[in-house]
Amino acid sequence: MRIVVIGTGYVGLVSASCFAEMGHHVICVDTNAERIAQLRQGHIPIHEPGLDAMVRNNHQQSRLHFTTELRPALANVDVCFIAVGTPSSADGAADTRQVFMVAEDLGRYLPAACVVVNKSTVPVGTAERVERAIGEQLQQRQVSFTVSVASNPEFLREGCAIEDFMRPDRIIIGTADTRSTQVLQTLYAPFLRKNPRLLVMGRREAEMSKYAANAMLATRISFMNEMACLSESLGVDIESVRLGIGSDSRIGYDFLYAGCGYGGSCFPKDVRALIHTAQRHGLPSHILQAVEERNTIQKAGLFVKLKQHLGTLEGRRIALWGLAFKPGTDDIREAPALQLLESLIQAGAQVHAYDPVACDNVAHTVPTQWIDSAQLTLYASDPYQALEGAQALVVATEWKPFRQPDWKRIATLLQTPLVIDGRNIYDPQTMRENGFTHVGIGRGMQS
Ligand code: UGA
Repeated sequence: MRIVVIGTGYVGLVSASCFAEMGHHVICVDTNAERIAQLRQGHIPIHEPGLDAMVRNNHQQSRLHFTTELRPALANVDVCFIAVGTPSSADGAADTRQVFMVAEDLGRYLPAACVVVNKSTVPVGTAERVERAIGEQLQQRQVSFTVSVASNPEFLREGCAIEDFMRPDRIIIGTADTRSTQVLQTLYAPFLRKNPRLLVMGRREAEMSKYAANAMLATRISFMNEMACLSESLGVDIESVRLGIGSDSRIGYDFLYAGCGYGGSCFPKDVRALIHTAQRHGLPSHILQAVEERNTIQKAGLFVKLKQHLGTLEGRRIALWGLAFKPGTDDIREAPALQLLESLIQAGAQVHAYDPVACDNVAHTVPTQWIDSAQLTLYASDPYQALEGAQALVVATEWKPFRQPDWKRIATLLQTPLVIDGRNIYDPQTMRENGFTHVGIGRGMQS
């Protein structure tokens, strides 16, 4: 098939390269000329395991192309995916302006009928509105064809997006016509050989499924974080509770980790968007609001714990391990580590932070004076460099090499043996035996 993917963010780029990998001819279109130039030279703008090689290989094999020009890309296209961003507006609603700009362009330039598919996370009813927006342009051009828009939400996780795309738990297709259903079924068949779970439903249901899935996952995390908070006060270890409840097959073990709050470009934005949608329909969303509130408290928790143990933070040196919102990515959007960083710097602390891949993004995001004045020092090659003379080590992202570090070396480097374990990756008893003060999340064991 000839496929056009509009938007080269992480969803667009991963989808495009995986379709190319299956032998399709794929053109990626993006208005960001710098990004397109970089992609043509084989520079991948995001850190995603396996993506570099896949993009470069398919580009070299002439199956994957990059352009800023939508019009020529649409010649003979069979399927056109919309995968542009839908960031949060100031009031929490999803900002769908980019989606509708693409819709207008498609209406202006599509030379013939094709299957248009929306992959961006969009409010319920957007596929219908996009179809109308395209239709209005087609009418003005007085062409003889119409276009139907399908919804195909994406469930990729950053850090394992290629794996998720190649072997999905399920594919959801929301369509209003059999042609789109058939084309998408054919397109996805090779990805579903092991797990033939392709769910066909209405477009609104597909759009809602995406929000409901992220909201449910965020709810599990906030629920566990609330249980962790209570456990701390009750002298209970949340890790034992996690195993105790996860072993119930109705609950399951996934997404039950208490920590320093969820971040990233999806959960915070999507929970807010759903709250906004509910409000617009006059429905208070008690649960989602609580999910969001708990997350706000949780993200502030690392700073609170540091203060509890160190008193004033003015002039203190703090080592911070992990800046990305989760391991396997350089994405720092809404990362708990960034919030901690900001609070520490405001409190007059000096932060020495290590992350294997996210330092560049942090350096480009934070005020330059933080780095110029040495309030923030970033390390990307050696986590131990960040520790020297620090009064505490805070772990905000559970990168694998943090799991079993050299505690003897850490003890000689840290000025005070205080470890704030924001992801509960260390065993409190072993830490105590090694001479550390270990502060986890919800690890209120009676000693
Ligand atoms: C999430 C969903 O998991 C994907 O299915 C979805 O496609 C994607 O959003 C999206 O909407 O595009 P992602 O944002 O990559 O994927 O990250 P997750 O692995 O879901 O983690 C989100 C946050 O929750 C991270 O900050 C993580 O540390 C935190 N988390 C996760 C916990 O605190 N506890 C857990 O048990 C699991």
